[in-house]
Amino acid sequence: MPTFSPAPATLARYGALGRGRPAARAACGGGRARWPAVAARVPRSGTILEVGCGHGLFSNYLADTAPGRHVVGVDIDARKIALARTTVTDTDRVRFDTIADGELPPGPFDAVVIVDVLYLFTSAQRDAMLAAAAERLAPSGVLVVKEVGTEPRFKARVAAVQERLATGVMGITEGAHHGFESEQVLADRVAATGLSVTSWRIDAGRLHPHVLVVGRRDP
Ligand SMILES: C[S@@+](CC[C@H](N)C(=O)[O-])C[C@H]1O[C@@H](n2cnc3c(N)ncnc32)[C@H](O)[C@@H]1O
Repeated sequence: MPTFSPAPATLARYGALGRGRPAARAACGGGRARWPAVAARVPRSGTILEVGCGHGLFSNYLADTAPGRHVVGVDIDARKIALARTTVTDTDRVRFDTIADGELPPGPFDAVVIVDVLYLFTSAQRDAMLAAAAERLAPSGVLVVKEVGTEPRFKARVAAVQERLATGVMGITEGAHHGFESEQVLADRVAATGLSVTSWRIDAGRLHPHVLVVGRRDP
């Protein structure tokens, strides 16, 4: 099994919200196992933008695990951002903002992080978001994209059912489910923005076929 860090400092920020509240339960739900693998590709210092940060757990985790990181988490869901804001103070190195669909803050950023968001977009929207994110990178900056892939197929089927429940039935996530795609297709999309790309499967020991794609801007 891969190393699993529950990031107690980060979860403590959400503990006071109360286990009984649906939003808090959603915020503290699954997905923490992927944090270390994704965070390992994010610079340990500099300005970082997380697009589609939801309730802000991963943005907080990035700041809690490296004192040199200054993180801005943005999302189109104002209710999630409102909850995320209750987890930070003015002295924290994390800020949360609501954005309009299709907009991003200007940057430049040393890293832009997008975790489990692109599957909600159409193909054209995916390319537009990745291009906008790449444009906001500082020299040598990285675009870190984590999505659910399509291999192996049994894991992809489990993930598809779960996400259709979240977007369609339970209404936890804004947007429609436009489908997962392969590591190669995602890597090609990031490469099309002009960044140098590396990709990995990060699904060992996990039920979901997580993939990670990192694009680096030239110095
Ligand atoms: C499945 S959730 C993932 C949340 C978080 N990244 C995580 O991994 O826990 C997808 C998030 O993307 C947000 N989202 C959808 N469309 C967006 C857009 N155009 N710009 C920014 N965020 C968006 C949703 O509101 C939701 O919070």
